[in-house]
Amino acid sequence: MMLDSLPSPAFAFANDTRSEAVFKGHCTPCHGEDGKGKASVGTPDFTSRKIQASLTDAEIIDIITNGKKGTIMPAWKDKLSPQEISAAASYVRSLRDGHRLMAKLGLVVAVLVVVLALVNTTRVDRRNMPVKSTESIEAQTQMPQNVAAIFHRACRDCHTELTRWPWYSDVAPFLWLMAADVYGARDHMNLSTWGRYTPEQRNDRLIAICEMVAGGKMPIWYYKPLHYPDAWLSESDKKAVCDWSKSQVELNAAR
Ligand code: HEC
Ligand code: HEC
Repeated sequence: MMLDSLPSPAFAFANDTRSEAVFKGHCTPCHGEDGKGKASVGTPDFTSRKIQASLTDAEIIDIITNGKKGTIMPAWKDKLSPQEISAAASYVRSLRDGHRLMAKLGLVVAVLVVVLALVNTTRVDRRNMPVKSTESIEAQTQMPQNVAAIFHRACRDCHTELTRWPWYSDVAPFLWLMAADVYGARDHMNLSTWGRYTPEQRNDRLIAICEMVAGGKMPIWYYKPLHYPDAWLSESDKKAVCDWSKSQVELNAAR
């Protein structure tokens, strides 16, 4: 809050709801429900910065107390207590704050909209490369159905060319985050092009798969909340993956 919008001591005791009650009870017929004034009565717009700047706190209290000469603005000193007058004045002032706050909020929203719009004009591809099914890990290794199912539901979005890009992945900054993840993951290990790895590369990855899965490091934690329960591996899921990966390492060693 800026210093100039702090209430002056005269208003400090006025309680917000009571301030509003006094204003709504006595002032809205001429000043409007929202305090924006009525052209037919010739009252000013209290949410206007200019009007607010033209009035000191003391003047507001004085006008409410004694009326405004030459206008139909009545004097309230015989009808309202000093506390009620102070409350009404405080409410008149608060219309400025409300207006400023809304203006600031509006500005923030507008800036966000513009930034997101600009950001979304720079495109990043959401790419899935065409692949030969004969190169996939399913075709290249002896993979039981249950293990294939685990890879399919928990790993394929990042480690294959079969990524299901969700709708929000078309919107920056999600697009960048997801694209970076998926391309990074495929770089480390692409299950769709398993056939292109050398025997050593395959072994490294087979060992890493069990390590990552058993250690709970894969799938990456932040992928899990949006992919419940698919991405949540049970102990028996982890064991199935590790049993399979070990069997494949042994098979390769025996060759
Ligand atoms: C019968 C109609 C009427 C009522 C009721 C009334 N006002 Fe006014 N008020 C006016 C008019 C008319 C003006 C003068 C506008 C102008 O400056 O020409 C005015 C001016 C003011 C001003 C000074 C504005 C300025 O720019 O100089 C304040 C503050 C104010 N009123 C507060 C109140 C409050 C608070 C109440 C309720 C307690 C209230 N008024 C009730 C008609 C009314
Ligand atoms: C949300 C995307 C995402 C999902 C889902 C995911 N991974 Fe990963 N994975 C990554 C990223 C990104 C990396 C690269 C990590 C790094 O940069 O250190 C990675 C790395 C790996 C590695 C390391 C490869 C190497 O270089 O040795 C293995 C193994 C792995 N993931 C296995 C899996 C398995 C198995 C699953 C499914 C159970 C899975 N991942 C699910 C994103 C994912």
